Amino acid sequence: MQNWLQLANKTVIITGSASGIGSALVDAFYSQGCSVFMSDIKTENIKYPNTSNIYKNKIAHVKCDVRCKDDTIAMIQNADNFAKEHDIPIASIIVNAAGITRDGFIHDLTEENYDDVLDTNLKGTFHSIQAFCRPDRLEKILSTNTGSSIINIGSVISERGNIGQTNYAASKGGVVGMTRALAKEMAYQSIQINKSRGEPNSHAAIRANAILPGFIDTPMTQTVPSNIKQRIISGIPLRRFGEPTDVANMALFLASDRSSYVTGECWECSGAIAI
Ligand code: NAI
Repeated sequence: MQNWLQLANKTVIITGSASGIGSALVDAFYSQGCSVFMSDIKTENIKYPNTSNIYKNKIAHVKCDVRCKDDTIAMIQNADNFAKEHDIPIASIIVNAAGITRDGFIHDLTEENYDDVLDTNLKGTFHSIQAFCRPDRLEKILSTNTGSSIINIGSVISERGNIGQTNYAASKGGVVGMTRALAKEMAYQSIQINKSRGEPNSHAAIRANAILPGFIDTPMTQTVPSNIKQRIISGIPLRRFGEPTDVANMALFLASDRSSYVTGECWECSGAIAI
């Protein structure tokens, strides 16, 4: 598995890496030999992986509030400085996992709760991608004939809806649309960059995909009362909440060149709840 994915020596940036899915992403990428640049608004919760470092890969973190454009620009700049300092490749993978819920029935939902969710889940994802996709960065990544992968964490709630989550569903629906538009734009850009560097037939491309998790056992869902949780589980064909590693393992595949012809896709990871 480790060799099949061939992720060793790549560098990945993960937002929301202090908890739940983000934390599982850190462990998964690190154990595959990636250098990992972690970021979160709550850096005090960040945990470094305790797996043995057989690849001598590097790991660091920075504080970043994805709602703030300047923070995301600084996050990418810090990640690039980190790569330079340690003589490792510039980050060619980003996983946008930072996200929040602020649930409530529509008549109770405050404008603040609507804005918080949209600003974090949708605008935050946009900010991180925009900083990551700086033209000179993309040229640098493709100049080594290496592909690049942008992975956004959406949610099945954008496809199914859910009571009390109009704001959340809207934010994650936006992530799906953004991912599809970005995939087309990045495919176009990749071809232009490859032509300009005299490699018109190169398969190196910047891809964008989303993972749409169902109910995953993380601090975000740990507040669900147990009677509601049991009701949810009875509606999941696999009869369990997913583990954060279930999502992380999908991300490894989407990040690797093994998925080099996959872009613009929004993959559910939900135990078939969305069917
Ligand atoms: P979590 O609450 O365990 O972790 C979210 C992380 O994002 C936290 O470390 C938090 O500090 C960070 N964060 C929040 N606001 C931020 C900001 N403005 N800037 C930077 N970091 C910020 O949640 P979980 O479950 O790990 O969620 C990760 C992603 O997966 C989110 O986008 C969530 O919407 C999505 N998701 C989760 C599901 C679940 O069942 N747990 C289901 C579907 C999607």
